[in-house]
Amino acid sequence: MKKQVFSGIQPTGNIHIGNYFGAMKHWAASQAEFSNIFCIVDLHAITVPQDPQVLKVKIREVAGLLFAAGINWQESAVFLQSQVSAHAELAWILNCFIPTGWMKRMTQFKEKSEKMKDEVSVGLFDYPALMAADILLYEADLVPVGEDQKQHVEFTRDIAQRFNSIYGKTLKVPEPLIPKVGARIMGLDDPSKKMSKSEGKSAHAVNLLDSPDIIRSKIGRATTDSLREIRFDKNRPGIYNLLVIYELFTGLARPDIERHFQGKGYADFKRELAEVVVEGLRPLQSRYHELTADPKYIDSLFIEGASKVRPTAERTLKKVKERVGLG
Ligand code: TYM
Repeated sequence: MKKQVFSGIQPTGNIHIGNYFGAMKHWAASQAEFSNIFCIVDLHAITVPQDPQVLKVKIREVAGLLFAAGINWQESAVFLQSQVSAHAELAWILNCFIPTGWMKRMTQFKEKSEKMKDEVSVGLFDYPALMAADILLYEADLVPVGEDQKQHVEFTRDIAQRFNSIYGKTLKVPEPLIPKVGARIMGLDDPSKKMSKSEGKSAHAVNLLDSPDIIRSKIGRATTDSLREIRFDKNRPGIYNLLVIYELFTGLARPDIERHFQGKGYADFKRELAEVVVEGLRPLQSRYHELTADPKYIDSLFIEGASKVRPTAERTLKKVKERVGLG
């Protein structure tokens, strides 16, 4: 029996190389090894304000990018969260077993709500419950995510264990799967902050669909430091982050990379890095444009994806309802 994998991605902002190396690349690479379900989490997306027309476009864009990144829709199930109503239903039931104190500890909520103050939605506060429902519905063994989602997966484990301790073994307790390199790519403009889809600044992230000239300009402007040496040194976060990106795109070993850039300046390094990124993204971008030429095609894959996963989701939901005494 293959292990069950579940993961998700929000269809908001622009998908960037952090999403790719922290998650998508590993989803595609492990398709033969695991049984996979990947979800485009549109219900999570509306926890902050969205323009409905833009959201619709972004949903198709993310799907196109997942397929362009190598996810095979016959081998893996890819679906849209709002098309399987069991997610919202299980989230509600879990809500009734989650102490508010657990929610208040969630660092992502604290960060996001700081900016929005009292305008922050109840949905954003409740985001981890919906994420727990996503994972638990499919009895996932493994949840491959970047480091920023680790706390949410741990929260999912806690709620599964709490539910099981009240009602007897019902929910499978999942494990996070976090890559050794690339689990936390930092912003190009500010290497103390995680590269993020919601950060509006133009030179913050390299997006998967950026043109070669945009990529060159963003990397050219990336924050470094006033030193010269090109070395993997975590105490120099700007240059370290750029070297990690170079490592991820080339697959070269760290000592070889350092040797390669010995005696060279930051400008040379950035120029070479930009070309490596441009060439690395080129095949993905051209596959993306082919796949999304007909948007109806992606919509039909969503319908197929939802019908593949719905029976499992409904089975878990039924089991949970019975345990709780509903219906
Ligand atoms: P999202 O859409 O923010 O990100 C998708 C995936 O990309 C990873 N990631 C990063 N990895 C490395 N460096 C970065 N700078 C970086 N930024 C993002 C994320 O860790 C994630 O794996 N809450 C989730 C979506 C979700 C989900 C789920 C995930 C909803 N339900 C159930 C797993 C299981 C999110 O907002 O991801």
